[in-house]
Amino acid sequence: MNFENISVELHGKVLVITIQRPDKLNALNKQTLAEIGQAVKLGNANADVYGMIITGSGEKAFAAGADISEFANYSIQEGTELSAHGHGVYNSIEQSKKVVIAAVNGFALGGGCELAMACHLRLASPNAKFGQPEVNLGVIPGYAGTQRLVQLVGKGKALELLLTGDAISAEEAHRLGLVNHVVEQSELIEKCSAIIEKIATKGPISVSKCIELVNKHLEPSQPAFLQEIEEFGKMFGTEEFREGTTAFLEKRKASFKPLN
Ligand code: COA
Repeated sequence: MNFENISVELHGKVLVITIQRPDKLNALNKQTLAEIGQAVKLGNANADVYGMIITGSGEKAFAAGADISEFANYSIQEGTELSAHGHGVYNSIEQSKKVVIAAVNGFALGGGCELAMACHLRLASPNAKFGQPEVNLGVIPGYAGTQRLVQLVGKGKALELLLTGDAISAEEAHRLGLVNHVVEQSELIEKCSAIIEKIATKGPISVSKCIELVNKHLEPSQPAFLQEIEEFGKMFGTEEFREGTTAFLEKRKASFKPLN
């Protein structure tokens, strides 16, 4: 299969999926999201693949979020559809029968942080930065960040990150349990591969059932996932969203109106 925005390579038993938009800090446009979903599907269908790694090209970014220039003029309906699309792709990663590890080699912001959180494990290089900066843009996370961040770091810290839009270091993400290990960037793929190779020696049905059952734990939260799609879409009809995205594209700070 030919991909435009990602590369997919088999390294031994490991499928390495690399987002290839380094000049846009690997921002995730619709096409890139779809391609990541297709690659994970391919990995699951290929008996030679024991696990997958998702990473970003270049040394600066894993993915700096959804592509703001793509969605800045979206309608409410287009925003809702984008969010539903992202949720679908990320759910398919979370529910993959074969392990998927995020090798976070730099910025993991917004949709990039959400992509890492949809993976089963996260390894990060010391320069990585994690955050949900959507409030800076007058929008909310749209790829399940309001849900998975709480699951991984707890309500208190999740709210701090969501409300301030602040990014945290790899070290702090590790301390919070958002990241499993911090390793030098040059060793990131090797370390992720070693974990996959270890898992590959275990019973594959057992491994896939562990993934399935851990995901079951989260089922009661499904209505909130769906509500996020709806609320994300609604933000596209607000003046707040127009100001936030325009400010980003004009490289200035947004000026928001207070709530009544
Ligand atoms: N969507 C679209 N383009 C993006 C992007 C995104 N999420 N993140 C970065 N880019 C683009 C920039 O517009 C810039 O493009 P240009 O060279 O054509 O102007 C290029 O990637 C490099 O980014 P730049 O901002 O110049 O790099 P930096 O090192 O100064 O800053 C960040 C890095 C990550 C702090 C900054 O790019 C940023 O804040 N990005 C947006 C993060 C975000 O809000 N994500 C959530 C989206 S919902």
